[in-house]
Amino acid sequence: MSVLVIIPAAGSGSRFGGEIPKQFLPLAGKPLLLHSVERFFLDERVDQVIVAVAEALLANTKQTERARFVAGGATRQQSVLRALEAAGDGFELVAVHDAVRPFFATGTFHALLDAAHESGAAIPALPVNDTIHITRGDIIEATPDRALLAAAQTPQVFRYDILREALERAVADGIEGTDEAALATRYGHTVRVLPGDPMNFKITHAADMERAEKIMAEATA
Ligand code: C5P
Repeated sequence: MSVLVIIPAAGSGSRFGGEIPKQFLPLAGKPLLLHSVERFFLDERVDQVIVAVAEALLANTKQTERARFVAGGATRQQSVLRALEAAGDGFELVAVHDAVRPFFATGTFHALLDAAHESGAAIPALPVNDTIHITRGDIIEATPDRALLAAAQTPQVFRYDILREALERAVADGIEGTDEAALATRYGHTVRVLPGDPMNFKITHAADMERAEKIMAEATA
């Protein structure tokens, strides 16, 4: 099976309050984004990695046959669709991965590829330990059964045709999903959920970066 990996990294937002988007902040001496790019690049099951970056950064990138950079769009979803369009339809499976999750497990990724090959789509997720309330302002409106909730991670893997259809229909319908699995589900596709990994956390706040630096230091000690 031929595998494409898309990494949306065209966002400009930074919850760190700084000028540099978090995916370009240094982790163990190199930009956070590069940790994931290199992991996928070295994976023998991956045929191509496409990273969506802000248009202004394209001139600073080096294109190779297996690692390409394209200009992202106005939203994460549009950035993923642009990368998908740039790739063409020669791939059976597409994995979409957050640039800010450098610690995904290769074993989990490979299990997701196999599950998506078999069922069409698969994502890693963790059980939810906190009680999650649906709120309006500072008032609780409802409380979903925690046993039914799953906290989604990436990489999320889809058959090419399923992801493309879901993204194109979302654009046509004016829907903005927070992950690709939500869109695939919305348009009637079955998305399997495999066990995620607490180590595969999303670097969101400054404290997450400190945790990531500690993990890297321990790994090289
Ligand atoms: O801002 P948020 O956490 O939702 O962004 C999720 C991911 O999508 C980030 O890696 C960000 O760089 C990417 N993104 C993108 N194109 C945009 C906006 C966000 O590739 N226009």
